[in-house]
Amino acid sequence: MRFVLFLSLLIFAFTSPAQAHPGDQHGEAMPPWQKASSWPDRIVVTLADQPQNRFSVTWRTDATVSETIAQIAVATEDARFDLAAETMSARTEPLNPALPELQGTVYQEPMNAGIEAAHFHSVTFTDLEPDTVYAYRVRGARGAWSEWFQTRTAAETGPVKFIYVGDAQNGVMSHWSRLIRASYAAVPDADFILHAGDLVNRASRDFEWAEWFKAVSHIHGMIPALPVAGNHEYARLGLSPNQTDRILSIFWRPQFTLPIEGELPADLHEVVYDMRYSQDLHIFILSTQNSDIQTQADWLNKQLAASDATWKVVSMHHPIFSSGRGRDSADRRAVLLPVLERHAVDLVLQGHDHTYARGAIGQTPERLGWRDAGGQVQTMFVNSVSGPKQYEFQETGWDMYEKDGVELARRAENTPFYQIITVDGDTLHYEARTVLDQLYDDFEMRKSGGVKQITRGATSTMEERSYQNTGDYPGVNDLK
Ligand SMILES: [Fe+2]
Repeated sequence: MRFVLFLSLLIFAFTSPAQAHPGDQHGEAMPPWQKASSWPDRIVVTLADQPQNRFSVTWRTDATVSETIAQIAVATEDARFDLAAETMSARTEPLNPALPELQGTVYQEPMNAGIEAAHFHSVTFTDLEPDTVYAYRVRGARGAWSEWFQTRTAAETGPVKFIYVGDAQNGVMSHWSRLIRASYAAVPDADFILHAGDLVNRASRDFEWAEWFKAVSHIHGMIPALPVAGNHEYARLGLSPNQTDRILSIFWRPQFTLPIEGELPADLHEVVYDMRYSQDLHIFILSTQNSDIQTQADWLNKQLAASDATWKVVSMHHPIFSSGRGRDSADRRAVLLPVLERHAVDLVLQGHDHTYARGAIGQTPERLGWRDAGGQVQTMFVNSVSGPKQYEFQETGWDMYEKDGVELARRAENTPFYQIITVDGDTLHYEARTVLDQLYDDFEMRKSGGVKQITRGATSTMEERSYQNTGDYPGVNDLK
């Protein structure tokens, strides 16, 4: 009898409908990690200018926390390194995801119905020493502290290693988490992680950002994030009849503290920026969903001309050379490619096409020569994807771009990747790896005597992955 009672309780527990949440389109319960509390969550380190001396941290609480603080100390080996901590007041910015206010107008976002207003807090730690490990923690309500996170400031010189991933976008918690965690397990000492756009699928949906932060968990509490805005970071808000243009996610600026390029129009702030990480490496981030490509191209042209970094890397979401079947961004290419070519940008890191493609504009008469050691190269282009949404590759590969002189070196379908990029003096090393840490693609580029050469390339012996020789791909609509 007792057993029957227990059994029926058990059956009840597993069959009673979960509390439906109006903010979730699947009618499922809101996970506890989505809801803001008086404790800090969604903690992310980002880089301000001068990453040798500064970094920013942004975090979220519920709206009861209207002012708060953060602490920082040099991370020593002492058990109580924290005794030397300094305290800083945080900036606090309110955001009501269900009723966001933009430029004085309150909108309704039904995807976030029932989600309570939150506060986003941020600090920028300044006057730090280069190449030094700091421990910091952030607070919500009084006594509600995060753990101490360790972050290393950039070095002025020496090797820099970073991770680059393409679109996460779908199944961010269920599927993308294994990729991003595999990348962190493989490269726990990465200096930063570059996310090349489409971090989520629906720009202003709180649930998807909750998934993104849950998937990265403590990774971005330690390793700075360099986020690029993709087309899916831009959307019309739910009920906004007067709104014709897509707008940047309501979460983007509150939750990422990013550099503001004062000379650019306000709508490009915190989505178009550059990061001079070290003497060797300068990264430039564009926002290609924003229609003002010409302004970005002019800005990029000026910044590239002024930079004396050894290695110049540009990241944008829409690829210059498309690899997804039936896709092309001819208008953007017409404006941006001449700038990339004029300054012989070394590496262009992109997403959007949900396929893997790597290839270069080379300078050898025998175009394929660059693939092997000795081939001169002008600019290397990569399209990659880190999430489960996968497209088919262009029927003709990159033959459609023959007139642009670009040659495809490696391609893949049906495979999420992460990339590890290391610059060390006159050498840039690149690897694309699978979620099982298998090397799928690599190259080494070296500059000497005014010549830029591929000194090693495509050494992986993994067979090229396509829909013909990999598992079934039924799409991502069934992902939970
Ligand atoms: Fe995209």
